[in-house]
Amino acid sequence: MPPSDPHLFVIFGATGDLTKRLILPALYDLTRTESGVKMRILGTSRAELDDASFRDDAARGMADVGGVDPAAARAWANEHLFFQTLDNDPTLDDYERVKHRADSLADEHDLGANRVLYLALPPGAFGPTAEMLGAVGMNRTEHGWTRLVVEKPFGHDLATAQALNATLHAHFDEAQVYRIDHYLGKETVQNLLVFRLGNPIFERLWNRDHIERVDIVVSEALDVATRGAYYDTAGALRDMVQNHLTQLFTLVAMEVPSTPDAGSIRAEKVKVLRATAPLQSRDVVLGQYTDGMIGERQVTGYLQTKGVAPESHTETYAALRLEVNNWRWQGVPFVLQTGKAMEKRLTEVRVTFREAPVAFFRQQNGCRLRPNVLHMQLAPDEGFSLGFEVKRPGDGYLVQTQHLHFDYGKAFGEPPTAYRTLMEDLVRGDQTLFVHADEVEAAWSLYDPILRRKRKVHPYAPGTWGPVEAVRLTRVESLETC
Ligand code: BG6
Repeated sequence: MPPSDPHLFVIFGATGDLTKRLILPALYDLTRTESGVKMRILGTSRAELDDASFRDDAARGMADVGGVDPAAARAWANEHLFFQTLDNDPTLDDYERVKHRADSLADEHDLGANRVLYLALPPGAFGPTAEMLGAVGMNRTEHGWTRLVVEKPFGHDLATAQALNATLHAHFDEAQVYRIDHYLGKETVQNLLVFRLGNPIFERLWNRDHIERVDIVVSEALDVATRGAYYDTAGALRDMVQNHLTQLFTLVAMEVPSTPDAGSIRAEKVKVLRATAPLQSRDVVLGQYTDGMIGERQVTGYLQTKGVAPESHTETYAALRLEVNNWRWQGVPFVLQTGKAMEKRLTEVRVTFREAPVAFFRQQNGCRLRPNVLHMQLAPDEGFSLGFEVKRPGDGYLVQTQHLHFDYGKAFGEPPTAYRTLMEDLVRGDQTLFVHADEVEAAWSLYDPILRRKRKVHPYAPGTWGPVEAVRLTRVESLETC
């Protein structure tokens, strides 16, 4: 990877939780790596703070919610952080002041003309802020690069995502825009790419001739808790499926790119989305959790959660069956499933290979001979596991499934955080792990029709695998071993 150039990293929304919990700890770690990255950080927000009080506040936050050692956070904040207040209803003058402050900090610290502009803001502020940055000329610098970072959610549906892309593109080129989906920064998600492209034995089997179905599961035991007001405007389709699960889907289904650069990889992902058949109502099951228990924990029903409308039809669970109409995948279902308040936390891509054409060994104990299943587990306990059939000792041919297992933690220890990976790629200018405008729009095009349809949400009890109506899509029983 190329080294990063010295730069000024400007954060809009610098006193929010995201900045303290994820962005600053990642930048802290990045500036302390051997290769070193020379940066200074200018925070802006509506808070009435000066440099000193911002440093106090940020260092405390980094220690309390970002897991950084308090003394180290303090020393780092003193060296790296600066602050500029923006008015409640910021005008061009306010942005001129930010620009002026940015330029003088860059001069003082010898950072040149390179800028990161990070929008750690509520989604409604992405467009207006990009416009202001364009209006004061912060969207480009003459002798350096400028990169704009936009957080999730990117739009609320296809029309709003297109409108936001149009606003960004009025002031920034696509090559300057870094849209975050933190799933792409997860080491284990990147490992999907390595697994596919680095292991030709699997790539040869990666098609409709050998694969029966692909399941992508992101289940969370956590409920909506204190996020009711936000979640009720989003739901599982917008919060998880359109972005995180779709990223996993396209990485698994894409064709092998001709070159390993961001442009080729992102183009292949878009092609998968464009080849995916429009979703029919029968391909989608939505659910909403009721009150109940997960183990010893009492879960408040979704409709009783603070911030949720009493008759809300927002889904906390979604299962979808996608079909990719191309030569590689025609006829192979990709089943995506995600939910809150589920039986357990599990993020997994499960590839079920086709069964043997002839049932050579008879059924034993009422169990069918199981197909080979490859589990690519992303959380918890990152790793791979491939199930295969072996003969149980004894008379006759009693067949049993055993697993070849790779444990990421045992082999490599704790993976770096997703934000740490994404921040490093950002400052080095690698867009591979960021989402392209075409990708966002193609994903919304796929889900927009079902978001507009009248929705039926089926109740499910916390601590289960979602509503029973979804079983015909998810075949939950296949999770059980025989
Ligand atoms: C976020 C969603 O983007 O991802 C949350 O808004 C969800 O609702 C979270 O809990 C899941 O991320 P992870 O990394 O814990 O799987």
